[in-house]
Amino acid sequence: MSLTPQFLDELRARTLLSGLIAKTVKLQKAGREFRACCPFHQEKTPSFYVNDDKGFYHCFGCSAHGDAIRWMTEQRGLPFIDAVKELAQAAGMEMPEQDRHAAEKAERAKGLHEAMADAAQWFVDKLNGIEGAEARNVLKRRGITDDVARSFGLGFAPDSRGKLKDALKAYGDAMLVESGMLIQVEEKEPYDRFRGRLMIPIRDVRGRVIAFGGRIIGDGEPKYLNSPETPLFDKGRTLYNLDRAQAAARKTGRVLAVEGYMDVIALAQAGFDEAVAPLGTALTEHQLERLWRMAEVPLLCFDGDSAGQKAALRAAHRALPMLQPGRSLAFVTLPDGLDPDDLVRSKGAAAFEALLKAPQPLVDRLWQSEIAAEPLDTPEQRAGLKRRLSALAETIADGNVKHEYLAEFRTRTDAHFGRGPGAFEARQRGPGAPARGKRDRRGNWQPPETMPGTTMRGVAVAGGLDPILAKAVLAGLIRHPAEIARHMEVLGSLRSASGALGKLFEAVIDVALEDRQLDSGKVLTILARSGFDSVASDLLRADTLPFSFTRRQADEARAREDLNEAIAVMVAQPAVDAALAEATAALSRDGSEEAFTRQVALSRKRQELEARLANLMLADEEDFDD
Ligand code: UTP
Ligand code: MN
Repeated sequence: MSLTPQFLDELRARTLLSGLIAKTVKLQKAGREFRACCPFHQEKTPSFYVNDDKGFYHCFGCSAHGDAIRWMTEQRGLPFIDAVKELAQAAGMEMPEQDRHAAEKAERAKGLHEAMADAAQWFVDKLNGIEGAEARNVLKRRGITDDVARSFGLGFAPDSRGKLKDALKAYGDAMLVESGMLIQVEEKEPYDRFRGRLMIPIRDVRGRVIAFGGRIIGDGEPKYLNSPETPLFDKGRTLYNLDRAQAAARKTGRVLAVEGYMDVIALAQAGFDEAVAPLGTALTEHQLERLWRMAEVPLLCFDGDSAGQKAALRAAHRALPMLQPGRSLAFVTLPDGLDPDDLVRSKGAAAFEALLKAPQPLVDRLWQSEIAAEPLDTPEQRAGLKRRLSALAETIADGNVKHEYLAEFRTRTDAHFGRGPGAFEARQRGPGAPARGKRDRRGNWQPPETMPGTTMRGVAVAGGLDPILAKAVLAGLIRHPAEIARHMEVLGSLRSASGALGKLFEAVIDVALEDRQLDSGKVLTILARSGFDSVASDLLRADTLPFSFTRRQADEARAREDLNEAIAVMVAQPAVDAALAEATAALSRDGSEEAFTRQVALSRKRQELEARLANLMLADEEDFDD
C-alpha cells in the first residue's frame, strides 16, 4: 500500500484535531487554542495545548508533540496503518488502492483474526461447560474471581485432538494451522494444539486475540504451551495484557513488567491493572520500547528466585544502550523468592504497593550485581570491577547518560575502595561489603554525609597509616633495601604506628641498622629469623599492588622515585587526617566560618595527597579515565 504525503496531508487537513482529542481528554478553550491536563504525564495544572490551525498538540510540561496521526499512535497505541485507516474513515476518505499482495495479506489476516476470536469464545464456552469443571476449580483455588476470569477471557481447551478443529472447521485446516491452533506434522492429519489446558488469550493493543498461552491443569510438563509465531503473533513485539495495561498506566503513570501470565492476572485482581508480561522469553528491545511509551521508568518486578533475578539483570543490560535522559528502569525485588501472584495473595495489595514505592534504580542494580560478581580482594580484581562497570556504561548510546554512569560508577568505586568517602571502613568491612553510603526511602544510594570535600577516611584513621599504602611501602623497601637508609628518620617515626605493620617497619629498620649493604634476600632472611618470614615473603610475592616499586620487573630509577613519593604521602597522611578529624569535629561543634574554612582547606590537602597517591598507581589500561 502506498500512502503518499499528499494523502496524509489531506487526511490531516480534514481531521479536526481538537474534536479527535476531545473524545478522550476534556479540553478547555483558551483563545485560539484548547488547553487540558496533559494525557501523557501526570499534572495538576494544564500545560497541554491543542492548536487546530496548525494541526498539532504540544505539552509544555513533557514535550509530547504531534499531529492527528501521532495522537492515534501515541495515545491510542495504534499501529501507524491502523491510525491512518481510522482517521480516513472518520474523514470520509477512501484509503489508497492497496497492491494485490498487501490486499491478500490483509484479507488473510482478517480471516486469522476472526478464527482467533472464535477460538477464544469457544474456549470460554468450554470453561463454563461441563468439561470445564476442573479448570474452574483451579481458578477458584487460586482465588481468581469470575469477573477477572471474564475480563481476561480465560477459557479451557478440552483434552481432545479434534474438538476445536471441528468447531472451527469453517475456516479450513490450512488457516487453522497458520493461526497456530492446529498442529500439522508432515502430511498427517492436523490436530488441536491445545489439549486439556487452561487457556489464556494474548491480545494485541487493540484487544484482538492474536495468540494463546495454555497452562496445564495441575502439574506436568510443559507448564505452559504457547502459540507459535504466526502472521498475527510476533512474540518479541507483544506484551501480555498490553491492551488493558496501557489504559491503566495512563491513569497511574506507571507500568509494571512481571514474569508470568498468572502474575498479571493476580495483580489485576488486587487492583494493579498496569502490569504486563513478556511471553516466556527475555524482554526484547521492542518490548522495552513499548514499556517506555507507557512510563518513563517502568518497574521490573520479576520473581524473587534466581531465575527471575537473572532475567531482571539481563533486561537491565539490554536497556542500557536505549537509555535516555529521564528514561530508565527500576527494579522491585520480591522477598523470599515469591512472585507477584504469591505476594498479593499471601501479604495483600498494600504490601505490594509498599514495594512499588521503593524500587531500586537501574544504576543500583548494576552496581550491586557487579560488586557481588567476583571477589575484590586484590588490585587486579578491583581493576576488573572497574573494567566491567565501564564496559557497561560504554554500551549506553546517549552521551549525557553515559557520562553520568561513568561518573557515578567512578564515585562508587572510589568510595568503596579507598580513594574517597568511606574508603577505610569499606576496606575494613572486607570485600563486597557495601560502601558507607546509605539508602533513602526510595532505595536510592546516598553518599555518606560529609561536609563539602571532606573525606571520611581522615576521621576513621586519624593518626594511623593507610594499611594498603603501608604494605606497599614495606614491600618496596624490601625490594629496594638501599632506600631504607635514606628514609631512616621518617621510617623511625612510624615504629609506633598501628600494630603489626608498625612492628614490621621496626624490624625492617633494625635490619637496616645491622647491615647497610643489604639486598632483598638478606632482608628476608633476617626478617624470617625474627619471625616475620611469612608476612615478608607475602609482601614480596604481592607483586599485585599497583606500584612500580612493588613489581619485580620495574625500571629501577622510577621505582625508587615512586617509593620516595609514596613514603612522603604515607607519612603526611596521618597528620593531615588527624588535623582534618579535629577540624571536622570543631566544625560540627561551633559551625563557625573559621572552622569551615580550615576544614575545607584540610580536606583539599587530603585530596591532594589522594591525588599524589593515585598518580603513583600504575594505570591499568581498563581504567575509567582513559
Ligand atoms: P511461571 O512459571 O512463573 O508462570 O513462568 P506463572 O505465570 O507464574 O504460572 P503459575 O503461577 O505457576 O501458574 C513465567 C512465564 O513464563 C512462560 C509463561 O509466559 C509464564 O507465564 N512459560 C513458563 C512458558 O512459556 N512455558 C513454560 O513451560 C513455563
Ligand atoms: Mn506463578
